[in-house]
Amino acid sequence: MLSRILCSSVFQKVIMAVTGLSLIIFVITHLSGNITLYFPDGTPFNKYADFLASLGWLLYAAEIGLVATFLLHIATAIQLKMSNSKARPVGYKVYQSKGGPSKANLSSRFMIVSGIALLGFLVLHIWQFKYGPGIEQGYVVDIDGKQVRDLHRLVIETFQNPLYVAIYVISMVLLGFHLRHGFWSAFQSLGMRNPALHSALYKLAFVLAVLISLGFLGIPVWIYLNSTGVAS
Ligand code: HEM
Repeated sequence: MLSRILCSSVFQKVIMAVTGLSLIIFVITHLSGNITLYFPDGTPFNKYADFLASLGWLLYAAEIGLVATFLLHIATAIQLKMSNSKARPVGYKVYQSKGGPSKANLSSRFMIVSGIALLGFLVLHIWQFKYGPGIEQGYVVDIDGKQVRDLHRLVIETFQNPLYVAIYVISMVLLGFHLRHGFWSAFQSLGMRNPALHSALYKLAFVLAVLISLGFLGIPVWIYLNSTGVAS
């Protein structure tokens, strides 16, 4: 009985929705902190990063929760994809939106592709910044008499490289597509069927995806343009 519920596509869609919405909350929080990277002075960003590091076990608990949410989101997506492929071994010849709540579009068809690309981006991103050089490697700055990791310098140096700027820009555009469909579809999976709310959520998903995508995407572009003297 329990295994039947856990394997049902309705339950799996609810898991996708809840984990997806939690990840959107993380992304918005992350962007709010990273907004300080638009400032010419690195102190606010380094203070923010040091504040996070000072949370100690609370940060570890949040990181474990975040990793678990990502893994559950990915594992459930694979399960859903596999059961869909079993139900329809031969794919559609032509994709067409049936209108109304279907809204099949570019982003809905590319959820798997954009999801895999975003996973690749995350591996590179965390390796570069979270596990990148720290105090021992000389990335250190004095803030209010305290020696803290100069994460700002690492971010600025990374985005002097046009290859990384391009990778980030492409990844953030994909993030926008993924969020646009994911946000709207999460509410569908949670049973939101009211037509007025439905149309409002569809528009909100678009606005949210554009704001988040542009907010992140602007950081590497802004830093790169500043380093080349175009924006200064
Ligand atoms: C221009 C865009 C971005 C910049 C400049 C940026 C910057 C950073 C930096 C500097 C860190 C290291 C924080 C630390 O160690 O204290 C970090 C960590 C992280 N970032 Fe980003 N980020 C960006 C976009 C994203 C996006 C779009 C996602 C998710 C889809 C993301 C997910 C993460 C995760 C999961 C961590 C590890 C958090 C932790 O374990 O504490 N980042 N980011």
